[in-house]
Amino acid sequence: MKDTLILGIESSCDETAASVVKNGRTVLSNIISSQIDLHTLYGGVVPELASRKHIEKINQVIRLALEEAGVTLDDLDAIGVTYGPGLVGALLVGVSEAKAIAWAKDIPLVGVHHIEGHVSANYIEHPDLEPPFMCEIISGGHTHLVLVKDYGEFEILGRSRDDAAGEAFDKVARAIGLGYPGGPKIDKAAREGNPHAVELPRPHITNEIREGSGVSKRARDGSEGKYDFSFSGLKSATLNYLNKCAMTGQTVSQADVAASFQQAVVDELVENAMRAAEDYQTETFAIAGGVAANSALRRAMKEACGKRGIRFCYPSPIFCTDNAAMIGVAAYYDYIKGIRSGWDLNAVPNLKL
Ligand code: KG4
Ligand code: ZN
Repeated sequence: MKDTLILGIESSCDETAASVVKNGRTVLSNIISSQIDLHTLYGGVVPELASRKHIEKINQVIRLALEEAGVTLDDLDAIGVTYGPGLVGALLVGVSEAKAIAWAKDIPLVGVHHIEGHVSANYIEHPDLEPPFMCEIISGGHTHLVLVKDYGEFEILGRSRDDAAGEAFDKVARAIGLGYPGGPKIDKAAREGNPHAVELPRPHITNEIREGSGVSKRARDGSEGKYDFSFSGLKSATLNYLNKCAMTGQTVSQADVAASFQQAVVDELVENAMRAAEDYQTETFAIAGGVAANSALRRAMKEACGKRGIRFCYPSPIFCTDNAAMIGVAAYYDYIKGIRSGWDLNAVPNLKL
């Protein structure tokens, strides 16, 4: 049977990426042009600068992806592109480019949900992984716990009610002087620190609130999940600790704060995940998204799943953070189902899962 080749394009935030994926599972190339150096100057992603940089880089990144895969545009069966959620100007660069290629080459265009892409990263290195499984997607913009019922079909069990886990990592990293992007820097600094040095609250959503206490609209309409997350209290407690130290002249150990904060996030992510996994008698649990690259989280999750006899899947760090291979994989499964996007495909910054 003829191979199916998909060009994946990703530009939702600060990475311009392109990848050629064969038959939905084999990554022939994975080119990522990161804008980290540019945004580091400002301590975070500047949307306008991100869009301009994507425009500057996208053609070169696609050319390299084709070259590395040893194919040309004429060999492609379809183009998959992230169309949301993300920064609108950044998304538009990828979407416009994908439309232009699909139009010029008269091949199908498949718009991909960024979070679906993250989940699909797990298919790359686990050839036998197939739905159903449970997945925790932990990134800079999202923290979701979902049941993957089929390719591209999800049931959301829980989500963050405030900050995403990655966002909390980035804010705490900035406050302790580690800079941007915070996650990998906290991960590294924490290796030298004591995770019990600073007493931090565990994000605690009581069962009463979990079941919906009637305080908020989401609680009343039942959309507030039993497995929701919360990270803003933990972030504030860390910042308060730092302020108190500054006022009292107490020396702060970057490594101890990093390790203590990271441990609290990991505890919340693992506890919530395992509660859901037990309730649903999950046989396979996967993690995805930038924070899934965190070494302490991977260790803790592996141990927690191991204890319960649950198979644990996680992508290599390069497929955890934003990349286009995961978009090519997700697009493949839509493509073989006959799903196509029209020429009116637009960037949707707050696209829901
Ligand atoms: O998935 P991603 O690349 O972009 C979004 O879709 O948001 O995730 C980026 C997030 C950032 O907040 C970054 O600090 C975090 O992932 N991150 C990490 C690690 N590597 C990236 N967080 C903790 N530990 C890491 N090793
Ligand atoms: Zn992402």
